[in-house]
Amino acid sequence: MSFPQGFFWGGALAANQAEGAWNMDGKGPSVADVATYKPNLDVKNYQAHVAISDEAIQAAMTDPDDQMYPKRRGIDFYHRYKEDLALFAEMGFTMLRVSIAWSRIFPTGEELEPNEKGLQFYSELFAEMHRLGIEPLVTLSHYEMPLALAVKYNGWLDRRVIECFTRFCHICFERYKNDVKYWLTFNEVDSIIRHPFTTAGIIPSRIPEDQMLQTCYQALHHQLVASALVVKDCHEIIPGSKVGCMLTKLTTYARTCAPDDELAAQAKNLENLFYADVHVWGEYPRLIQKMFQRKGITLKMQPEDAAILKAGCVDFVSFSYYMTMTESVDPNAERTPGNTVLGVKNPYLPSSDWGWQIDPKGLRYSLIELYDRYRLPLMVVENGIGAKDTVEPDGSIHDPYRIEYFRQHIQEMGRAIDEGVEMWGYTSWAPIDLISASTNQMSKRYGFIYVDQDDLGRGTLARSRKDSFYWYKKVIASNGANL
Ligand code: BG6
Repeated sequence: MSFPQGFFWGGALAANQAEGAWNMDGKGPSVADVATYKPNLDVKNYQAHVAISDEAIQAAMTDPDDQMYPKRRGIDFYHRYKEDLALFAEMGFTMLRVSIAWSRIFPTGEELEPNEKGLQFYSELFAEMHRLGIEPLVTLSHYEMPLALAVKYNGWLDRRVIECFTRFCHICFERYKNDVKYWLTFNEVDSIIRHPFTTAGIIPSRIPEDQMLQTCYQALHHQLVASALVVKDCHEIIPGSKVGCMLTKLTTYARTCAPDDELAAQAKNLENLFYADVHVWGEYPRLIQKMFQRKGITLKMQPEDAAILKAGCVDFVSFSYYMTMTESVDPNAERTPGNTVLGVKNPYLPSSDWGWQIDPKGLRYSLIELYDRYRLPLMVVENGIGAKDTVEPDGSIHDPYRIEYFRQHIQEMGRAIDEGVEMWGYTSWAPIDLISASTNQMSKRYGFIYVDQDDLGRGTLARSRKDSFYWYKKVIASNGANL
């Protein structure tokens, strides 16, 4: 097993889950800042994580107490990034994926001039990363659109948001053209169907249930057009830059080899892949157009959209990979949650405490499938396990479960490379504990670095190294040979 020379090793974060400082230095509220921690949440009921309405937004914005909005505080990366980057550098990171909080640059999304203090923060962040030899990989939209755009336009449902987003991206490319070469447009662009508010600012209570799918695909179309415009703009402003799409890779196996189960699994996989298809091929696949017709979905497109999509194809494909699931036509098949999905349980796989099924070989399967389909370089830009950690009396944190998860996944990634898959890098999720995207918990920990903070924001925020920290350092030092 051999990883290529210059393979990027590192970790991935999102601004809204790490930075905190939600209303400092001119930042406007984002959709993440109204997401609430629910103490008695059934973590296996993913629908409950994402419910939101105008009333809930109003209540969140007038609540004098911040405690139940963990993404507002994150892990205070905004003020502690130097300490955190030093720890990443100590592990040997050569890449760090971060996102730029849109509402730090354009507080409502509609200003014509950017907020200089917001721009300055990322200038300093990238400068420090370069000083430490860490290449930035930057996501332009990671579940944090300005709240004002959600409230005023119902998010990406309104085509006018395209212009707001492309203005924001243009400013980022101009400002960071000497700092950032690798970019991603929309994090997990496919997730609009599963959590429309978080992904696209769509407030579900405004949409009749039977119109929800139509609404999501229309908003998605606007995101796809925006993504293509942004890819083109980036290539023009930053020669040699590389822009990727980002997919939640939800590989689905048939629960049995009964042809009906196979067909059901195939349909799931095609639906999951089509989001990347459009980014890579610059057009909607025929099978998806037919699926839209069957479901009565009609997208409003402008005459220029087809040419825009064609002119903005991505340079590489990136994806998150946490788990797999199966599909069956048997209505009684046992179900289990995954990353914001509910799938049919696979009897051959263990699960995390959150019910996500652990499948290292599924990563190899997914890499081979994606490379064979797209023939473009791949990056795994999220992979990891959320777990509860215990701090021992002497301050040490033993997390053999996390080491085992990563060991097996990295091994399978190496095997995929050996089989011929072209890969540029791997950024784990998340190298430091942060706020969970779906459940807003702090206690769902992903990091190699422990952060002393509980679900209600109590703690010193002190950082400490877990056993996995030393293990990952060794992996990076050996370019993946010493697992
Ligand atoms: C991905 C997201 O879906 O999964 C991240 O891009 C998220 O933002 C990660 O944190 C893990 O999910 P969760 O819900 O456990 O935080």
